[in-house]
Amino acid sequence: PVAVRVKDLLSRMTLAEKIGQMTQIERENATAEQISKYFIGSVLSGGGSVPAPQASALAWASMVDGMQKGALSTRLGIPIIYGIDAVHGHNNVYKATVFPHNIGLGATRDPDLVKRIGEATALEVRATGIQYAFAPCVAVCRDPRWGRCYESYSEDPKVVQSLTTLISGLQGDAPSNDVGRPYVGGSKKVAACAKHYVGDGGTFMGINENNTIIDTRGLMTIHMPPYYNAVIRGVSTVMVSYSSWNGVKMHANHHLVTDFLKNKLRFRGFVISDWQGIDRITSPPHKNYSYSIEAGIGAGIDMIMVPYTYTEFIDDLTSQVENKIIPMSRIDDAVYRILRVKFTMGLFESPFSDPSLAGELGKQEHRELAREAVRKSLVLLKNGKSAYSPVLPLPKKAGKILVAGSHADNLGRQCGGWTITWQGQAGNENVTAGTTILSAIKATVDPSTTVVYSESPDSSVVAGDKYDYAVVVVGEAPYAEGFGDNLNLTIPEPGPSVIQTVCKSIKCVVVLISGRPLVVGPYIGGIDAFVAAWLPGTEGQGVADVLFGDYGFTGKLSRTWFKSADQLPMNVGDAHYDPLFPFGFGLTTEAQK
Ligand code: IFM
Repeated sequence: PVAVRVKDLLSRMTLAEKIGQMTQIERENATAEQISKYFIGSVLSGGGSVPAPQASALAWASMVDGMQKGALSTRLGIPIIYGIDAVHGHNNVYKATVFPHNIGLGATRDPDLVKRIGEATALEVRATGIQYAFAPCVAVCRDPRWGRCYESYSEDPKVVQSLTTLISGLQGDAPSNDVGRPYVGGSKKVAACAKHYVGDGGTFMGINENNTIIDTRGLMTIHMPPYYNAVIRGVSTVMVSYSSWNGVKMHANHHLVTDFLKNKLRFRGFVISDWQGIDRITSPPHKNYSYSIEAGIGAGIDMIMVPYTYTEFIDDLTSQVENKIIPMSRIDDAVYRILRVKFTMGLFESPFSDPSLAGELGKQEHRELAREAVRKSLVLLKNGKSAYSPVLPLPKKAGKILVAGSHADNLGRQCGGWTITWQGQAGNENVTAGTTILSAIKATVDPSTTVVYSESPDSSVVAGDKYDYAVVVVGEAPYAEGFGDNLNLTIPEPGPSVIQTVCKSIKCVVVLISGRPLVVGPYIGGIDAFVAAWLPGTEGQGVADVLFGDYGFTGKLSRTWFKSADQLPMNVGDAHYDPLFPFGFGLTTEAQK
């Protein structure tokens, strides 16, 4: 049994070997030699830190395997676990299937679909030799001004709870008789990570990594519930949030990390810090790294994500344990938890990549699944200037269609942040496989229909009766984390100008590509039909499937659509709830036979 193996191994480990297990380093300074010298327990690729070229599963797998050889060459041969931000599919390698970001999955309200996405993601991640995904983000985003809003399924904890099925997809179904025990069902599954514990989605004005000011009841009823489900599903790891709760850094919160998560909820996987998360416990002018380490590990963090300065961390932690500032029992608890995950998932038996999985990356079934997810994630917010004159679905024999806007023919913008690089891609060139919305429309319409594309048409292009319909695809440029914090939430230019120019003369459908609701009040009256498509990922065909009626619209808002940003935060159930479109809203259409 796992417990016997863990105890036996732990009893044979030196302090250096234990502290190595607790140390997760960045792949950019992770050579096989360093890994074996310091007995490193884990390596990560932070967003954007991918081996060049990102071209193949093979490049990844041989890199990870090379590091693994370093780990296995040590006295005890404990394998590393390699982690990556596979947050909407394996978004770190060319040709992978990129699924809609969580906000779009929230609109599907489909736990089974999300589970299947987890299964596909696990296979694509394993195809690159990686065994650990920093997903799902189970944040309950209460303020869309937050740059990570799109990583949250919903403002409603119940929706977020219901979609923790991603964990079961990534890891497999945990046995129900041992709640809290981490579970990963073999070498085609990956360890999951519920993040960011806890209250990350409740920060002041949606400022990334800021302070969540809320009473205990609010924390427990809004932000904590998804963690109950994650623990029941056997999530292997939980990542601590950079944010604070009522002024106390979560990375130093013993009460919530140890007393509540580990002891009360009986979570028995390991707790991981965020990237240099413990370094930020103290800040200038009182920055004190030793104190930060003591506070973070003392709070109950087991694995420390310590890019770049890990030798300083190792030396400091070693001396604090030797000087009995940090008790050995705390170190043993941390290493026990890490080894339990590694044994449970069969890492000792199968430490290397499995070449037979190479074909999983971006395979057709996964693309079909992503396309299904896109179809179900679209939310139809307006259909016709009156209820009696619906515009959607568009006819496939449509005469002449103008497709316009910065997001119509751009895979990078369609995928958003956390795609190939941390902040996402600017164009098509680096997201090689997939279908833009423009190419999907061309592939869907009847051969008799002419499709004309103009990214930013001027009034001479649209004047007269040249077009029967226009599809305008505009939205936000990709961003991630704090780079996406935004107080105004307006549609970036030239989006509004394109909407106004085109919709003035042509019957138009506006498709908004965005990580959150944006201010649309000034334009919505002049638009014939309006679709929120969120950040759909690589399979733009799913958008055309629904626009042209092969499938109906079914998505429901997983967030409140505000009128203006000065109403924020405003969430369903609030006393002064005055949305443009309420939580749960979404018009439907019938699939055309
Ligand atoms: O997993 C992420 C986290 O969501 C934000 N900080 C960096 C981590 C690793 O890339």
